[in-house]
Amino acid sequence: MIRIGVIGFGYWGPNIVRNFEGIRFGTVKAVSDLNPKALDKAKKNYPSIEVSSDCNTILTSPGIDAVAVITPVATHYPLVKAALENGKHVFVEKPFTRTAAQAEELIELADRKNLKIMVDHTFLFTGAVRKIKEMIDADALGKLYYYDSTRVNLGLFQTDVNVIWDLAPHDFSIMQHLIPDKPEALVATGEKHVNSFEDVAYITVHFSDGVIAHFNVNWLSPVKVRTTLIGGEKKMLMWNDLEADEKIRIYDKGVQRENGDGIYELLVSYRMGDIWSPRIEQIEALKAETQYFVDCIEKNEKPFNDGVAGLKVVRLLEASDTSLARKGGIVYL
Ligand SMILES: NC(=O)c1ccc[n+]([C@@H]2O[C@H](COP(=O)([O-])OP(=O)(O)OC[C@H]3O[C@@H](n4cnc5c(N)ncnc54)[C@H](O)[C@@H]3O)[C@@H](O)[C@H]2O)c1
Repeated sequence: MIRIGVIGFGYWGPNIVRNFEGIRFGTVKAVSDLNPKALDKAKKNYPSIEVSSDCNTILTSPGIDAVAVITPVATHYPLVKAALENGKHVFVEKPFTRTAAQAEELIELADRKNLKIMVDHTFLFTGAVRKIKEMIDADALGKLYYYDSTRVNLGLFQTDVNVIWDLAPHDFSIMQHLIPDKPEALVATGEKHVNSFEDVAYITVHFSDGVIAHFNVNWLSPVKVRTTLIGGEKKMLMWNDLEADEKIRIYDKGVQRENGDGIYELLVSYRMGDIWSPRIEQIEALKAETQYFVDCIEKNEKPFNDGVAGLKVVRLLEASDTSLARKGGIVYL
């Protein structure tokens, strides 16, 4: 049985505790938060779990095997470092760290101590992303052309990071999971309207073989949109995460080049085939992910959403900040 201590019981922490409480071979032993109201809530919902405002009680306890760090990003590095130094496996929220150098140090520390790091890239465990990955791996879409994502809504304004650090970790982690190639360069533009952090941003990522990815992240949108388009040579798909049914639609649509009579004449023919919606597994992503964390510890396996996966996302976030500061200057990765 893996005994888990959870640090941070704000907005996201209760979801983590609820899911770790419902899995096989894992149990939550303690919760820590600086806010007494959060501790009252934890105690009320889980009377048998120990609560404390001092996270060191979790970090140093011999009765804890793994620590979940569900606090704001600036605190991830010191808390994860302390957990690893005390011999605990770590489940940490996205984004993994504030800098790539911090992530590299933590990965090295975990490797040296033979401990696991799992970064909570929750979307990788959704039925929709699993289905899209299955299709890309089976070459059902053909050669990929583009990845185009819109993640916009009104708020929630963060006080410590810009909209890219808040929303794009989801999209960057999904993109890296789905597209096997390495991103080569990135361009980001954005503006601040309300506080000192960008609240609207557009990021473009270029890959070596012509694949292009674009991300629209925005805290000032009147409507909530969660749409991703993926274009391939054989098929194209649209994933609308807000749809209850038919989250993914596959389009047998495309274009084909044909030479016309004249030597300079290029004709394009359009394929307008069927549209269908595959069945998506209905699971709570966090339930699958928390079970996977405990299973990886039990079986001594490296999770695919490990520290290295988290580091790749942080590198893209850092590159986005560099490009933003240069008003859209290209950053080679
Ligand atoms: N995976 C997801 O879909 C998802 C969704 C929301 C938030 N998150 C991530 O979860 C993390 C937390 O976000 P949130 O929205 O819950 O923030 P929040 O501010 O609502 O909660 C954070 C909590 O951590 C506590 N805390 C901070 N430092 C602490 C310390 N040293 N010891 C004990 N408690 C401490 C605070 O008191 C607060 O209650 C962020 O990294 C965020 O990016 C992930």
